[in-house]
Amino acid sequence: MRVGYVQFAPRFGKVKGNTARAISLMEGPKADLWVLPELFSTGYLFTSRDEVAELAEPIPEGPTTRALIDFARRTGAFVVAGIAERAGDRIYNGAVVVGPEGFIGRYRKIHLFGKEKLWFDPGDLPLEPVDLGGVRIGVMICFDHFFPESARTLALRGAQIICHPANLVLPGIGQLSMRMRAMENRVFTVTANRIGSEARGGDELRFTGESQIVGPDGAVLSRAGPDTEEVGVVEIAPERAWDKRITRYNDLFADRRPEFYSL
Ligand code: ACM
Repeated sequence: MRVGYVQFAPRFGKVKGNTARAISLMEGPKADLWVLPELFSTGYLFTSRDEVAELAEPIPEGPTTRALIDFARRTGAFVVAGIAERAGDRIYNGAVVVGPEGFIGRYRKIHLFGKEKLWFDPGDLPLEPVDLGGVRIGVMICFDHFFPESARTLALRGAQIICHPANLVLPGIGQLSMRMRAMENRVFTVTANRIGSEARGGDELRFTGESQIVGPDGAVLSRAGPDTEEVGVVEIAPERAWDKRITRYNDLFADRRPEFYSL
């Protein structure tokens, strides 16, 4: 199975252009599963909830999800992408999972970062993997990496690959923490981070790039540069994620003692 990330610099508010750019980058190397950054179609630095509401889209009816489904139909690939989701009067920092047969699933970011707390409603869906043609994937978004429970829950529920759309802003931190999430759960992780910067509403953020694919032993299988538009694709054997053994005597899941730490 070939998995890939797309790293680029979305332009704030230019939903059509950002979607077209991401799709054209995915037209390059072939992959079975693509991961795009958090909020890849809208940009990140909102200044009001109204502004988010204007750019957010219903999933799966919105034009961005539809464009991704068209791409998936044409190429046979699956895509996980971070999208601002509007659902009635609620707005989520969301992600969509689509494939050649159409809409598959959605995720809504549980751990909101910084001013996201002012603009978005917190995620209200369980951390539940979905099956993509026999391979189970889980989705979490950016700052969720700081909460090991997110990746652990997905892995305990059978995720072999954790797809991680991101807009990371603390250099090196999310990349390091996702290596740990991969290693401690013996799963693959694919972090698609954005690059560039945004200055809006008196705030300025620089996004750190270095998108990466990590194996179940924590090895970095692909790492993008800190500020270059790039795609990275790696061939993986997802069944490796079923093996939780690290020594003859230790299986990281069988050895858990939840009675001591189920707080
Ligand atoms: C983040 O969660 N976008 C840092």
